Amino acid sequence: MTTQSRILIKGGKVVNEDFSEMADVFIEDGVISAVGSDLQVAAGTWVIDATDRLVLPGGIDTHTHMELSFMGTTAVDDFHTGTKAAVAGGTTMILDFVIPQKGCSLLEAYERWRTRADPKVCCDYSLHMAVTWWDDTVKKEMETLVHEKGVNSFKMFMAYKDVFMLRDHELFAVFAQCKETGAIAQVHAENGDLIAEGAKRMLSLGITGPEGHEMCRPEEVEAEATQRAITIAHAANCPLYVVHVMSKSAAKVVANARRNGRVVFGEPIAAGLGTDGTHYWHKDWAHAASFVMGPPLRPDPSTPGYLMDLLANDDLSVTGTDNCTFSVCQKALGKDDFTKIPNGVNGVEDRMSVIWEKGVHSGKMDENRFVAVTSTNAAKIFNLYPRKGRIAKGSDADLVIWDPKATRVISAKTHHQAVDYNIFEGMLCHGLPVVTISRGKVVYENGQLFTNPGAGQYIPRKPFAEFVYNRINQREKVGKPSAVCREPYTGEIISVAPKR
Ligand code: URP
Ligand code: ZN
Ligand code: ZN
Ligand code: ZN
Repeated sequence: MTTQSRILIKGGKVVNEDFSEMADVFIEDGVISAVGSDLQVAAGTWVIDATDRLVLPGGIDTHTHMELSFMGTTAVDDFHTGTKAAVAGGTTMILDFVIPQKGCSLLEAYERWRTRADPKVCCDYSLHMAVTWWDDTVKKEMETLVHEKGVNSFKMFMAYKDVFMLRDHELFAVFAQCKETGAIAQVHAENGDLIAEGAKRMLSLGITGPEGHEMCRPEEVEAEATQRAITIAHAANCPLYVVHVMSKSAAKVVANARRNGRVVFGEPIAAGLGTDGTHYWHKDWAHAASFVMGPPLRPDPSTPGYLMDLLANDDLSVTGTDNCTFSVCQKALGKDDFTKIPNGVNGVEDRMSVIWEKGVHSGKMDENRFVAVTSTNAAKIFNLYPRKGRIAKGSDADLVIWDPKATRVISAKTHHQAVDYNIFEGMLCHGLPVVTISRGKVVYENGQLFTNPGAGQYIPRKPFAEFVYNRINQREKVGKPSAVCREPYTGEIISVAPKR
């Protein structure tokens, strides 16, 4: 009898971030037990033919918001539909955000998110925590989250004034606590004060449509905040991860900082790599509104290609999606005022195909860099490596068999997400997942899903990821400022009249 607890993937080309090789992969009980040729496997092993195909580490989406309640409504893709769609697209792990309201307990919000996600997830997942306010209880809770709950990444908002936004002195305090606990600080980098002023101005000019969303927060609003976050993180000697890098200007800031030796990582997302902000000017309001997210897509149509170039040469490091899906009737909350359009787009299902199409098919990156930016770098930054992000003996059996020659056209009519549009509608993609394996089980094969809600697991992460912290720790040791030794000053001192 063939059993799914043992699978042999035969005849494929195994692609890791550092090299590719013709090799078979033997999976037993959810783990890769051997990679090589002429593997001896037990009778009854299920054999999958991967001739002419690539065998890749399953994708890791670093940035999702399943069933997030935000701007007066709740994202339609929950942990069930969202992770089903993920595996249909070759992604086998998501990192979602817990976002507590200002003044609320981070730990309670974490437990609530686990209770929601655990019974629904069809693939493994992990959690980032947003820090939306600051005091000593938050500081303590961050420590508990790191030591007891497996959270090693904290996101701070520099936008969403009066809702989630932190001020610079608070950012410094949170960054310092991240550094103390071995976590990585993440920022949503946009200047929230300038957005508020810009929005008022657009509305006063009678600009109420989605184009106002972009015009009230031009590129420099993102670039300024990105630079400020990098400066504050450097002052705290804290590693920094800039989520959803959406503009050329912000990407240049990240690239420059990396070239100046800062420990900073930039995350472009599928939306920013695959489409652009010209859609905000579309005559059909619903079409234009479906692209609304923060920071916005940029109207300069050369932006996606530029971000892909930087991703290809390691100025940018890793890709997510910011998947946060609101259907058209939800977007319509802002039909008369763009500031009320719920922010968020799709991407969790299409990220791998979009990056293959715009990155590999276009000739900007090779298959190994594709693996690095869709899986391995995420695993390294968030301390999941080599359990995730690698095809090797002992790694989790999260893999995707990829057909680089197959094509499909992305459409909301055929996608697996709950949202009723797709921002990549009509995009022809070369390179498709044909089989997705999660925890050693085939969960997707040739268009058919075999998922089980609750089959995925929460993956706790340890602090002090070496990939991130080796440099930080060494700088801490050798980079301490020291005073100049000198004789005390013994000369005259002016006298200052006491203040009355
Ligand atoms: O528009 C977005 N990005 N929605 C989700 C929340 C966030 O800022 O990541
Ligand atoms: Zn954000
Ligand atoms: Zn359009
Ligand atoms: Zn987000």
